[in-house]
Amino acid sequence: MIQFILNNQLIKTDKPASTTLLDFVRYDENLRGTKIGCREGDCGACTVLIGSMKNGKLEYISATSCLTPLPNVHGKHVVTVEGLNLPDKLNQAQQAMVDCSGTQCGFCTPGFVNSMCGFALTCSEPTLESAISAIDGNICRCTGYKTIERASAQLASKLVSKDQNNSMQWLVANEFVPNYFLDIEERVKALKTEEYNSNGQIPIGGGTDLYVQKHDDIHEYDLDYLFDKNVLNGITFEGNRCILKSSATVTDLMENERLLETIPNWYRHLKLLSSTPIRNIATIAGNIANGSPIGDFTIILLAMKAQLTLTNKVKENRKLMLKDFYTGYKTFDKKPDEYITEIAFELPVNGIQFNFEKVCKRQYLDIASVNSAISISVNGNLIAEAHASMGGVGPIPKYLAKTCEFLANKTISASVIKEAEQILQSELSPISDARGTEAYKRLLGRQLFFGHFIELFPETIKMEDLL
Ligand SMILES: Cc1cc2nc3c(=O)[nH]c(=O)nc-3n(C[C@H](O)[C@H](O)[C@H](O)COP(=O)(O)OP(=O)(O)OC[C@H]3O[C@@H](n4cnc5c(N)ncnc54)[C@H](O)[C@@H]3O)c2cc1C
Ligand code: FES
Ligand code: FES
Repeated sequence: MIQFILNNQLIKTDKPASTTLLDFVRYDENLRGTKIGCREGDCGACTVLIGSMKNGKLEYISATSCLTPLPNVHGKHVVTVEGLNLPDKLNQAQQAMVDCSGTQCGFCTPGFVNSMCGFALTCSEPTLESAISAIDGNICRCTGYKTIERASAQLASKLVSKDQNNSMQWLVANEFVPNYFLDIEERVKALKTEEYNSNGQIPIGGGTDLYVQKHDDIHEYDLDYLFDKNVLNGITFEGNRCILKSSATVTDLMENERLLETIPNWYRHLKLLSSTPIRNIATIAGNIANGSPIGDFTIILLAMKAQLTLTNKVKENRKLMLKDFYTGYKTFDKKPDEYITEIAFELPVNGIQFNFEKVCKRQYLDIASVNSAISISVNGNLIAEAHASMGGVGPIPKYLAKTCEFLANKTISASVIKEAEQILQSELSPISDARGTEAYKRLLGRQLFFGHFIELFPETIKMEDLL
């Protein structure tokens, strides 16, 4: 049985595990406020909040219910827009949408209200910027975004006085969420659910790739639900080595203090990946094992010389470098019963510099046309080692072995970088497709490669030198 609290009600269901949360709330529970737009994680009409116990505290995330299988909410609190209603008036997010004319046809509004209430529940330092970030996964076709941004600004200004020590009491007293939220933490603890037990053949993490790619036949798959397995969650450090358990999400990495302190622009880089509700549920192992040639995290980890641990069903481990994992388009050095359990990499410290670049048709909420990362260690102006990667330029996420070999022991200069770019081009094999022509992708490859050096070594390399 899958058990969770849906708004104010305990749910126990034996529905097929691959049922999406969206279908369950709409068709089994008749909560039609959660809308179906794209079923691909793009529009945010189906956004719900999911509260779970983390480090002894109830924490909420926003998530796209269209891509969330039921086991991923086992033992948690799921909130749809109906569960945010106050008995006799609008809550603060709903009121802000009315005050600022943030709704017209209303189709997208429940999704926005959920994201905004999620912001109210989670924010520690409410600013206009963070309030707008919280709705980055929601699309509106009617109002244009200015009115909704004004509603977010109104919400953020009311949250400035939020009592961080008694936040739930404050949010209830100030009409952001209804009264029953006060008891939810105890009720979630009391559920005392065992880990959801599955042992299928096909691993699934957040489902943000699998549900999009295999939407029509996913119910026929024998799935192994990894998202909430305790042994597969967490981020740890051994000295300067970072060890990600495979179900760590992009948000987990984006909020990790050590990574934020160590890697310049870490937050800015990761914000280029998808949207808040997707980052909240998208796992790192899913990004790697989906095998997309433009997987952003894969490109980042290739440049960080990441090492994978693969584990089989009898718990035998095998280690392998990420760059050796890909054998062809969506084919891997992985046995059918193996799955990724850990991803480890050295932090870029002691003179190692890191940069990530991504170009897409839209700046945010889009997959890359071409993306690239580099980690480079320098001694003065001398390159000791370089590790660079590029996506969207061939059948696999590409580790640029020849370019890196050429760069080692060279002094950074415009002529060296131009020469390296010639080698880089020999390593690329892009094809023309919806994301650009071959020539355009080669041009982007050049620009992003140059961009790394302009960003990391502004004293030595100027854009004009590379023209
Ligand atoms: C709207 C939207 C926007 C997106 N934007 C971006 C973006 O900007 N950048 C980007 O890189 N990606 C993007 N993605 C793709 C996706 O979100 C990421 O690739 C994500 O990291 C996949 O993780 P997941 O846990 O959801 O994978 P799942 O869908 O659960 O799984 C993906 C694949 O990995 C396999 N798998 C999962 N876990 C394991 C494991 N532990 N071991 C072995 N195999 C495993 C599954 O069998 C499946 O084949 C986007 C997706 C959506 C829907
Ligand atoms: S229906 Fe569009 S994001 Fe889920
Ligand atoms: S109000 Fe119509 S889609 Fe947003």
